[in-house]
Amino acid sequence: MTTNSKQVHVETLLAQAGNRTDDQKTGAISAPIYLSTAYRHAGLGQSTGFDYPREAQPTRCILEETLARLEHGVAAFALTSGMAAIQLVFTLFHSGDKIIVSDDLYGGSYRFFDLLHEHYHLDFAVWNGQDQQQLAALIDAQTVALWLETPSNPTMKVIDIKQTAATTRTHGIKLIVDNTFYTPLIQKPLDLGADIVVHSATKYLAGHNDVLAGAVVAKYQADADQLNFNLVTTGAVLDPFDAWLLLRSLKTLPLRIHQHETNAQILVAALAHDPHVQRVLYPGRGGMISFYLADNVDVDHFLRALNIISFAESLGGVESLVTVPAVQTHADLSEAERQAKGITANLIRLSTGIENADDLRADLVQALAAAAD
Ligand SMILES: Cc1ncc(COP(=O)(O)O)c(C=O)c1O
Repeated sequence: MTTNSKQVHVETLLAQAGNRTDDQKTGAISAPIYLSTAYRHAGLGQSTGFDYPREAQPTRCILEETLARLEHGVAAFALTSGMAAIQLVFTLFHSGDKIIVSDDLYGGSYRFFDLLHEHYHLDFAVWNGQDQQQLAALIDAQTVALWLETPSNPTMKVIDIKQTAATTRTHGIKLIVDNTFYTPLIQKPLDLGADIVVHSATKYLAGHNDVLAGAVVAKYQADADQLNFNLVTTGAVLDPFDAWLLLRSLKTLPLRIHQHETNAQILVAALAHDPHVQRVLYPGRGGMISFYLADNVDVDHFLRALNIISFAESLGGVESLVTVPAVQTHADLSEAERQAKGITANLIRLSTGIENADDLRADLVQALAAAAD
């Protein structure tokens, strides 16, 4: 990161990301996109710092330095998807290791953990995210890490990262936090005691429903070195153009998060008073809301009646989207598991965009009324 001062506010840090990085002295404000996959050496044993893009790539390096500063880590890695980021973190572990996971995660994370269990003999235990004594009781000699998401997806349960970090530190295991939903603008897990943060950068960090990307940020150099070695070895690095798009998107992250959250709070109030809604789940911050439709509201009719909000499977972008977790993100769980987590057929997850809040509210209210019998 190349702002003159390292002590600027987050809005300045992000708006200036990539400025003053053009070493051709053109004065370009926007960071260049370097597509080259080969870098000339001046002579034997000499390097500009860039040899081959799987190891380091100039546009990606600017992005990674920005991400590291944003999450207060020592290093960040930009990858091809959130799942690639999660997979990279798991290259730190070995067969026989046990990882404790919180009980309400993105469905794709569960799918990956099942694969790791079946193919690579990693063991998993599930924690309810609330009771520290229960967590301590789950930790045994094989346990190497706790993996959590907060707020959780889709039921918006909040886990106290600071309290949990005290437990993981006492027992000498790593704490890894998927910070996709809140972003570092709302919560900085590394400051609260976590060791590693992951993101589906596809969501708020990129924010425009047009980039698939992931990020891993490490607090400690030893983890960063191992992650770097493993990423160079396995190779799922983000390409230069997507790295540039993500860097550009980060410049407006504070503005977007502010608008997502303002809109979400207005919609939470509207949904809570709507007779066609049974219950609203909102963690208090951010742009994600879940709500249960009342018994007399037909889910399919509701989705079809929306005119502004789209029925589409993602979140964190400027356009508002709704999903039905039971048949989309969490379809791989058994019916019994979904019921136990409260992921019923009438649960709707809303990713509030940055549109005008009155327009979003009117769209929801009319669609709910239209779908009620
Ligand atoms: C919380 C969370 N983590 C990880 C992922 C996976 O990210 P990606 O879809 O970018 O691979 C998602 C995707 O929806 C997610 O919501």
